[in-house]
Amino acid sequence: MRRLVVGNWKMNGMASDLGALGPVYEAAAPRGAAEVAICPPATLIAALAGAAAGRIWVGGQDCHAAAKGAHTGEISAPMLIDAGARRVILGHSERRRDRAEDDAAIGAKIAAAQAAGLGVILCVGETEAERDAGRTGDVVAAQFRAALAAAGPVDPARLDLAYEPVWAIGTGRVPAMADIAAVHALLAREIAGAFGAAGQGVRILYGGSVTGANAAEIFAVPGVGGALVGGASLKPEEFARIIRAA
Ligand code: PGA
Repeated sequence: MRRLVVGNWKMNGMASDLGALGPVYEAAAPRGAAEVAICPPATLIAALAGAAAGRIWVGGQDCHAAAKGAHTGEISAPMLIDAGARRVILGHSERRRDRAEDDAAIGAKIAAAQAAGLGVILCVGETEAERDAGRTGDVVAAQFRAALAAAGPVDPARLDLAYEPVWAIGTGRVPAMADIAAVHALLAREIAGAFGAAGQGVRILYGGSVTGANAAEIFAVPGVGGALVGGASLKPEEFARIIRAA
């Protein structure tokens, strides 16, 4: 399966940054290279989609559950498509935390995104307290199941997962490789349980302090189908190194 490497720019990036992505396009170009997506802030989606010209995917970082309406400040899934995005990150822990997004809300967004034609990257992950309590497996399985149940019918052909331990995001801390392997194996069982053979194409990305220096080790872990990269995706040379490692 081709790996998927996604850059999540979060609330970073200006139009003037788009000209520096040459190394990223180059790393994504060879036949058999990993699939690459960048999810910039919404202000840059159309400009990046134009500049990338199909060399990488462009994605959103969130979408609303409704297609349109009186929701000031929100962006819908059809609007992301209209701007040139083909994927969307949903359920990121920063939105679960900052916007109190729960599994039901995330499920509704999954349904809206897929109905509009977007590929979904669904994020799950445990907090440090949950990890210390030995609850990692229960937490990520429950997040996956609850989001899917709230979404209604989900097309596994338009779904990837990202395992992102909350305590590893932006901290420089990464789980032991054996722990990443165990969670990815558990999520693979969840995917098989939900979709059967149709779920075989669902990739499970790892996210949380992925860098140019640790990417190769992480991609060597069984079950890691790609990476969701925050901070390191803001540096084109380093992001390119992660793409090459994949
Ligand atoms: P990080 O963020 O790579 O900066 O740890 C990952 C993420 O939040 O997706």
